[in-house]
Amino acid sequence: IQAEKGGYKHFMLKEIFEQPRAIRDTTLGRISLDTGKVFLDEMKISDAEFRAATKINIAACGTSWHAATAGKFMIERLARVPVEVDYASEFRYRDPIIDPASLGVLITQSGETADTLAAQREMISKGSKTVAICNVVGAMIAREAHGTIYTHAGPEIGVASTKAFTAQLTALFLFAMHLAQVRGTVTEEESRTLIEQLSLIPGKLRDALRTSDKECEALARLYSNARDFLFLGRGIHYPIALEGALKLKEISYIHAEGYPAGEMKHGPNALIDETLPCVVLATRDSTNRDSRLRYEKTLSNIQEVTARSGKVIAVATEGDDQIGQLIDHVLYVPDATELLSPVLEVVPLQLLAYHIAVRRGCDVDQPRNLAKSVTVE
Ligand code: G6P
Repeated sequence: IQAEKGGYKHFMLKEIFEQPRAIRDTTLGRISLDTGKVFLDEMKISDAEFRAATKINIAACGTSWHAATAGKFMIERLARVPVEVDYASEFRYRDPIIDPASLGVLITQSGETADTLAAQREMISKGSKTVAICNVVGAMIAREAHGTIYTHAGPEIGVASTKAFTAQLTALFLFAMHLAQVRGTVTEEESRTLIEQLSLIPGKLRDALRTSDKECEALARLYSNARDFLFLGRGIHYPIALEGALKLKEISYIHAEGYPAGEMKHGPNALIDETLPCVVLATRDSTNRDSRLRYEKTLSNIQEVTARSGKVIAVATEGDDQIGQLIDHVLYVPDATELLSPVLEVVPLQLLAYHIAVRRGCDVDQPRNLAKSVTVE
């Protein structure tokens, strides 16, 4: 088993470091740098059906649900189709409004999660076609789907999902781009720029891993005894805050909550004191106006926390020398186009959770009470 860990202390750490390869393999053969075109694997869904879709329903559980929630931003921004995201366990029981013009999407690492399979069957019974984003070839959900985009992350052993998550984000980006191209909502020039950005992600991930690992280990020494953590983000960074909180809960058993940064004043501000670390996602894409505005708002949220003696750990974009003046701890990740920056900014959150769990002596790869795949409803 030691050999299978490839020299790493845990599967989870090995899988975190495999992410550059997982992302490259997920895009391999599916993108053209010359034309910016995206090619999905063969599907029983025609371009005409992709064009006619009036809505997209995504259902998933756990980490895959966080990918779905980030995917909503990608699909709506690029393809201009409304997206609804559901916890698969809730979907069937709310008599969801779906019809043949809604397209179903199921996101699942294992392809076997009982609730996700049940949601897919509900969609199909109401006449929707379904696309699976799945990491296990031939899994049940992939077999029942009208098309599958496999995330080529390779087998994931650690119960806490890492490389499968970033591969899901990548697959969702490919899906959103494809939909946008078929529906004519992106220009050829935009496509080329975005696909070029995508092709740079594996190299940037390598940089992020190199710089974050030691820093997260040092932060773990400072914060491994915290009782609670908050994770804050805006826009597409909000689901990444949720994922950061989930990683910490799952493997270190520290209570953690993810929140949209703008909601702090509606409750969570009451929790802030000098014992509560807040991890704030504060990356920015200087080419994007909304992203710049969100960044400014996030900086004010950071100031609200520090004014109440809260401790802030920010994840920010390399080259941002403004944020370091406000707070003690900044974890830098490379610059990226906003829809892809989640793939980079989740890395320090994974490593922070990992190092805190190791310091607390937890069983990182097999946390108590959890299973890798949940095949009962
Ligand atoms: C379990 C795992 C999680 C995973 C979730 C959904 O709770 O521990 O890591 O995110 O199931 O699994 P799926 O295979 O459908 O992505």
